[in-house]
Amino acid sequence: MSVRTLLPGDLSPIETNALLCGGVAPRPIALASTISAAGVRNLSPFSFFNAFGSNPPTVAFAPNRRGRDGTVKHTYLNAVATGEFVIAAVSFAMLHPMNVASAEWPEGVDEFPKSGLTPTPGRFVKPALVAESPFQMECRLQQVVELGSGPGSGLMLIGEVLAFHVREDCFVEGLLHPDALDLVGRNGGAFYTRASGTAVFQVPKPAGRPLGYDALPDVLKESHILTANDLGLLANSPGLPDLAAMTRRPGDPPAIADLDHAIRRALAAGDLDEAWRLVGLRLRA
Ligand SMILES: Cc1cc2nc3c(=O)[nH]c(=O)nc-3n(C[C@H](O)[C@H](O)[C@H](O)COP(=O)(O)O)c2cc1C
Repeated sequence: MSVRTLLPGDLSPIETNALLCGGVAPRPIALASTISAAGVRNLSPFSFFNAFGSNPPTVAFAPNRRGRDGTVKHTYLNAVATGEFVIAAVSFAMLHPMNVASAEWPEGVDEFPKSGLTPTPGRFVKPALVAESPFQMECRLQQVVELGSGPGSGLMLIGEVLAFHVREDCFVEGLLHPDALDLVGRNGGAFYTRASGTAVFQVPKPAGRPLGYDALPDVLKESHILTANDLGLLANSPGLPDLAAMTRRPGDPPAIADLDHAIRRALAAGDLDEAWRLVGLRLRA
């Protein structure tokens, strides 16, 4: 497969933005609620957003200079003027109201009534919470980082979280559950991701120091049937079992290809011990 290499100096800010948005994806969406010095509410989404530290809890998002003319956005002006913002996570049920809030409404327009989302008072900051959001953070602006000065350049707002507000049903056994949150993420262009249902899955953390790919038997690495993920699952094992001691059972396939498929099936079923038993047979096949 050929690879295209692109240099930022050869691209317009709009092309660069499209590349970043497509490739750095999916991104979480911060629906940022702010208030102007004159007291007018503002609500706009920003997907250049993430959390960066837990102690103190720190988040950042970037209402950047407009790619078209380099002007700054109302959210940036409000957050800098007041030193406060609320970030509301965007659930699937809020997708289209959020999209309406993203339109370039003129200065002085409150996007809450425009989007149909409901403002409710916060406890620590003046900007409103968004009643429909399952997860929200009241934030105090800590730092503004200017990443250039031309059109499309970054204006990163770093904030400390003063309070989290989480819808009660989102806690399942003490942890936030993706199906209850049902968050959406932003990809490039008009593409979005819905992070619930079959789109989310669990991957157990490596237990201690795992075996590693380089310690896998070469015949497995040379297989045309086992995938990089199959080998990754085996490489994540705590150690190399005694492969010579693995015993054949009635019904085990004799052919190498069939054994590789059986290893795949065992891995897909989460049965690592059975996968290694079949690897033992595979080495002797
Ligand atoms: C899902 C989504 C994510 C967005 N992410 C960003 C972003 O990270 N940075 C940005 O400057 N604009 C982003 N935008 C565009 C702003 O929401 C848009 O420019 C908005 O009109 C800004 O409003 P304001 O001037 O009231 O702050 C995004 C739009 C959508 C729909």
